Amino acid sequence: MNVLVVGSGGREHAIVRQLAASPQKPRLFACPGNPGTADNATNLDPGPNDAAGLVAFCRSRSIDLVIVGPEDPLIAGLADDLRREGLAVFGPGAMGARLEGDKEFAKEVLASAEVPTAHYHAFSSAESALKHLDKIDLPVVIKACGAAQGKGVAVCATREEAEAHIHTCLRDQAFGQSGLRILMEDCLYGTELSVLVVTDGQDYCLLAPSRDHKRIGEQDQGPNTGGMGAFAPVALPSDLYAEIDTRIVLPILAELRRRDIPYRGVLYVGLMLTAGGPQVLEFNCRFGDPETQVVLPLYRGDFLDLCWTTATGELGRHLQGAHRPEGTGPTGWTGSGLTSWDRHAVVVVGAADGYPGPYAQGRPIELPDANSDGGWIIHAGTRRDDRQLVTCGGRVLGAVGVGPSLDAARQKAYDLLDQVHFEGLTFRRDIARTGEGVRK
Ligand SMILES: Nc1ncnc2c1ncn2[C@@H]1O[C@H](COP(=O)(O)OP(=O)(O)O)[C@@H](O)[C@H]1O
Ligand SMILES: [Mg+2]
Repeated sequence: MNVLVVGSGGREHAIVRQLAASPQKPRLFACPGNPGTADNATNLDPGPNDAAGLVAFCRSRSIDLVIVGPEDPLIAGLADDLRREGLAVFGPGAMGARLEGDKEFAKEVLASAEVPTAHYHAFSSAESALKHLDKIDLPVVIKACGAAQGKGVAVCATREEAEAHIHTCLRDQAFGQSGLRILMEDCLYGTELSVLVVTDGQDYCLLAPSRDHKRIGEQDQGPNTGGMGAFAPVALPSDLYAEIDTRIVLPILAELRRRDIPYRGVLYVGLMLTAGGPQVLEFNCRFGDPETQVVLPLYRGDFLDLCWTTATGELGRHLQGAHRPEGTGPTGWTGSGLTSWDRHAVVVVGAADGYPGPYAQGRPIELPDANSDGGWIIHAGTRRDDRQLVTCGGRVLGAVGVGPSLDAARQKAYDLLDQVHFEGLTFRRDIARTGEGVRK
């Protein structure tokens, strides 16, 4: 099988790595990929950056399957464009991707599915948003409705912060079109959980529950980032697995079918585990990053077959037998037999100092000699300058550790990161130690 992965981040490296482990021995291409994907795939760099160019490439190389990694091309309808040309695509079309690209639409879908989520009001004018502030209690969460590279949401404890974020979105238009409509929603308290639902629109399975660490600083201090580390699986109270499956995931997928919204790919459901039960914070229409870096290594099945059957509407075939909770898996978690629950994975992100603000690029990187069995480096913001590997992003790489316990996996990840060197390398030392979330 010939497979093309679209994207260039840590998520795409993790996807390529997992595809390469398939017994089907696929031929892999990444567009544009990164120095990490180059280990297992042919990078198209520079490659086509529009649908027509990708279609022409897929024809010339007999590509069987395209996996679209990032949200922006999915929201723009790339999957539709490719499907129209007869290609098998893992990733939703524009209608499904709107769950991520339009947070107000996501709220409407949640309301009709009767799935718990924070109460909200939507505004297009700063004046009415500011007036609404007078009537509500703080903290309040203010969100740009559109995709804003993880920067559109502010949890505002003071009126000044709230006013500032309203002006950032509506007056200064810092997020362009994406911020011209905002949601003001109630603040939820609890710990967060990431759930990756793989579906072909009919059948679905849940991958290992994971947890991201979003703040730049230890003990969840400082601004939000794209994610500074993650671990999986997250151990939940035993009744919560089935509750998430039947009270959250099932009604959402049923609502998508009711609305005739086709969905073939992964739906990321971001949850807040509140004292009153799980509530949906947001959707992503693709694999979360860095969560994917720890969830995929725990997948027991053939990941290529998962992606292929999802893209072709035959996921049911892949899942046959997977519902049996084999060994240590929780009951009530659809597809739980596909995860190795007795293994644990931790990723610690190595970032450039200054991130998530301005940071330097082009710094030479020194990596450990070889990837060992229980640990490896995932490339995110790296590139090659002649022969030298250098930094080119805020989140530069992830050190992944896998082991029989969370402690062992964490130790492995930190041991590996200790062997990584570049000027300005920063990372959190408390990954997989805390249950990150919003506390009262
Ligand atoms: N209603 C809420 N209550 C408390 N915290 C929230 C709420 N909504 C979002 N957050 C926090 O803000 C983060 C980012 O919000 P999210 O809706 O996931 O937007 P995005 O990922 O698009 O930036 C969440 O991971 C969570 O930490
Ligand atoms: Mg989010």
